[in-house]
Amino acid sequence: MKKELRKAVIAGNWKMNNTPAQTTALINEMKPLVADADCEVVLCVPYIDIPAAVEAAKGSNIKIGAENVHFKASGAYTGEVSTDMLKEAGVEYVVIGHSERRTYFGETDQTVNLRSLAALNAGLKAIICVGETLEQRELGYTETLLKFQTKMALTNVKPEQLKNVIIAYEPVWAIGTGVTATADQADEGNGFVRAAIAEAYGADLAETVTVQYGGSMNAKNAEELVSKVNVDGGLIGGASLKAQDFSVIVKAASK
Ligand code: PGA
Repeated sequence: MKKELRKAVIAGNWKMNNTPAQTTALINEMKPLVADADCEVVLCVPYIDIPAAVEAAKGSNIKIGAENVHFKASGAYTGEVSTDMLKEAGVEYVVIGHSERRTYFGETDQTVNLRSLAALNAGLKAIICVGETLEQRELGYTETLLKFQTKMALTNVKPEQLKNVIIAYEPVWAIGTGVTATADQADEGNGFVRAAIAEAYGADLAETVTVQYGGSMNAKNAEELVSKVNVDGGLIGGASLKAQDFSVIVKAASK
């Protein structure tokens, strides 16, 4: 295992929280707290907050991401946002295929793949989410499902584009529930993701891909989770809305 080949990435996923004014205030509070991070620090924010976030983060080590992107360049897709729009606004990362998108908004493995390809072809970094439900876990399908979702998301992604791919393993039963996967469960899930990448692209390349854990990661459990060989940082929901908590997680990933 070659953890040193991969940079840890701590990404906040704000979901549908914070107005533009609240965005400015929270990022200004976070900036000094994460300034000496030895990991990549990203905040993925609602579309309407992007200009405020980019402005507030200017000159700092905080990178800004979006929470979704459409796969077409432009056209009659009411409510959607394109890669060009995000890039011009200063976005570098984009979350794709979050389980909330899959559950509430009809996102499928096919649309996750199309959105991922669009993001990568535009030079954005894609944080692609995969994860099993509790029922799927109890039926013993975790490995099969994680490998399937990972390979589907990466269909037609070129090997040289993997440097811009982050996979976030987020067990659905751990998201926003306060129930965190144990560090061993997180390591195992992330390992299944890495094995799927190895099956598709070879082991050497798979060792270079950042695989995050997400799901009730917080200031208390982050250090143990990121100490695992396959856990290269985290995708953080609730705890990314509090500057202090988020900075503790960033520090844990910087060790
Ligand atoms: P949570 O969310 O940290 O609030 O569980 C994680 C996520 O949905 O990315």
